[in-house]
Amino acid sequence: MNEFEQSIKEINSNIKIVSPRSRLNNHQKYEYLLWHGDVRKFLNHLNHKPLFDLVVTSPPYNIGKEYEQQKDFSSYIEWQKRIIEQILPFVKDTGNVCWQVGNYVENGTIWPLDIELAPIFREFGLQLRNRIVWKFGHGLHSKRRFSGRYEVILWFTKSNDYKFNLDPVRVDAKYPSKRHYKGPNAGRYSSNPLGKNPEDVWEIPNVKSNHIEKTIHPCQFPVGLIEKLILSMTDVGDLVFDPFAGVASAGVASAIHNRRFWGCDISRDYLDTGKLRISKALLGIERYRPHD
Ligand SMILES: C[S@@+](CC[C@H](N)C(=O)[O-])C[C@H]1O[C@@H](n2cnc3c(N)ncnc32)[C@H](O)[C@@H]1O
Repeated sequence: MNEFEQSIKEINSNIKIVSPRSRLNNHQKYEYLLWHGDVRKFLNHLNHKPLFDLVVTSPPYNIGKEYEQQKDFSSYIEWQKRIIEQILPFVKDTGNVCWQVGNYVENGTIWPLDIELAPIFREFGLQLRNRIVWKFGHGLHSKRRFSGRYEVILWFTKSNDYKFNLDPVRVDAKYPSKRHYKGPNAGRYSSNPLGKNPEDVWEIPNVKSNHIEKTIHPCQFPVGLIEKLILSMTDVGDLVFDPFAGVASAGVASAIHNRRFWGCDISRDYLDTGKLRISKALLGIERYRPHD
């Protein structure tokens, strides 16, 4: 076995796909764990709490995609509520929760899911820190309303003592050479030399057919979007959890930045793709568009 094959073997022994039929023993030892099945069943198996430093996900929007069974809207919201309620005890007090959503659409009218879901998190005692607008370039062309070109990330914390590191995600200052012109700092640069706060509107291309990250999944996260959250809300070695992991884009961002990752999905095909992507990310050969 050559060196490359040896590293693939080592990496694969550290990424496990578990199905509801197999026993979830020793799950703590896996840095990368993918559960094939319903997220609620996975959570029922966990007994060490709290575990997660960051929960980041994009749930189904109840709009009839290939991976979801459409429900009436109130049942859908109730389903989301039960899952959120079940996840929260596993989030550390210093932890963060990012729920990325768009619109539920019925008969041409839109129901922005952030508006519907935010009260649930509040009811469970979480604090909303930002409503991040993710702006992208491509999507459906609407005829009877303006075409939608943004979705939202609701970022909640469990306490005031939450992890947040701005420095790794700072962006170039608009006027980096600007200096204070009076007062005790006169003559010194007025902006932070590490760059400025990236603000709460992020323009990141969505993953359409010619994007380098495109896989079999119809609605995958761009890795750069999750990368920004992971870099600012976790430290090396922390555990990231995505209850609706799809092709594990959050796992790819975690692997690139030496965070651990657990995720769930009901599709084995998505998880197989996700496992391969995580392996390649750990080997440093997964192609992606970085956030910066
Ligand atoms: C919007 S997609 C998430 C895509 C993901 N962010 C990615 O980058 O690939 C929602 C995912 O939830 C999964 N899903 C639907 N119901 C589920 C359930 N009860 N438990 C776990 N996953 C579920 C679907 O198979 C789908 O892949």
